[in-house]
Amino acid sequence: MKPIAARIEAMPPSGIREIMTLADATPGVIRLVAGEPNFATPDHILEAAAQAGRDGYTKYTSNRGILELREAIVTKLEDRNGFTVDTEQIVVTLGDINGIISSLLALVDPGEAILIPDPSWPNYVSVADIVGAEVVRFPLLPGSGYLPDIEALDRICASTPNAKAIVINSPSNPTGAVYDVASTEAVLEIAARHDLYLISDECYDEIVFDGEHISPASLDDSGRVVSVYSVSKTYAMTGWRIGYVAANEHLTTMMCKTQEGMVSCPVGVAQKAAQAALEGDQSCVAEMRDAYKARRDRVLPLLEEAGILLSRPHGAFYVMVDTSATGMNGYDIARRLVAEHGVAIAPGETFGPGGEGTIRLSLATGMDDLLEGVGRVTKALEDWSW
Ligand SMILES: Cc1ncc(COP(=O)(O)O)c(C=O)c1O
Repeated sequence: MKPIAARIEAMPPSGIREIMTLADATPGVIRLVAGEPNFATPDHILEAAAQAGRDGYTKYTSNRGILELREAIVTKLEDRNGFTVDTEQIVVTLGDINGIISSLLALVDPGEAILIPDPSWPNYVSVADIVGAEVVRFPLLPGSGYLPDIEALDRICASTPNAKAIVINSPSNPTGAVYDVASTEAVLEIAARHDLYLISDECYDEIVFDGEHISPASLDDSGRVVSVYSVSKTYAMTGWRIGYVAANEHLTTMMCKTQEGMVSCPVGVAQKAAQAALEGDQSCVAEMRDAYKARRDRVLPLLEEAGILLSRPHGAFYVMVDTSATGMNGYDIARRLVAEHGVAIAPGETFGPGGEGTIRLSLATGMDDLLEGVGRVTKALEDWSW
């Protein structure tokens, strides 16, 4: 048989998935590994989905998604993200990840490059591999709360003539950084100077504990910003697979073609569930955010006391831990933590070279398990340090 595609064969598997699989096979493991809310999807959303099934939302929808949902998205973007688009500038996608790949497919020709933060969500690399884009990383500054190193980004853009887009992610996975206005403006300015698109992954836009979320599109009128969102984390709806992209109309029209070729459209009942989420009572969002914040506020002093807190997360639900004193690779740490201490975390290396010497803990776990898990991690790291 002929070999399968070389670029897919060469793709590294997700380090997070590897540890999740290991945890699945090991009884009694506390999971601080996945970026998945431990809450159930709120009842009014479930009810809306059931009703949508009865109302016949069981067919293909437009590539852009159901109009009523896009109207709800337009209102949400205006009220909560501070920018105005019309319904033709929206594409409803199968989660944020589908929004990222679909926009990149529409923007990037094979051989062109995308610039991604280091460290960042590993799926940006797999998406680039699928699209055939080269990946160039730009550094985040751990000493400044993992905000982008603006001078380095500018230099890297200047020395990457095949670059097409910069990807940013605030609030950030894995660092919990929330970009301030100055950083957002600086990145926008660099994108404009080098004539690049700015893909802004905002899937944690409503999970901010300190300060406020800034949507780059609210500061831009050039049309180069591609804003990508999701209901996955905000409403505990990871399995419903609904996200959405707001961008200039030409790009969203091209994305109808990429969506048609990949998925045609998201599931109708899931779109109606997302509409109910966006239009319904928002107290569930505040309740979940408050729970993540309470967990963060309990965990940070423990990590600080152990001398292993790397930076204070201001949003999303992750915290980066310094493992450099162990001299061990993050994958070895992660595998040994599962096998010997019954706790699963994500190895820092999976987020890029900038993640070396770190591990990522997820706060999306109930308080008791979280505190027990953090206790096991700090004890093990202390034992392994020299
Ligand atoms: C930065 C980032 N973007 C996107 C996603 C995926 O979101 P969705 O479930 O909507 O595809 C995640 C999930 O962990 C993430 O951390």
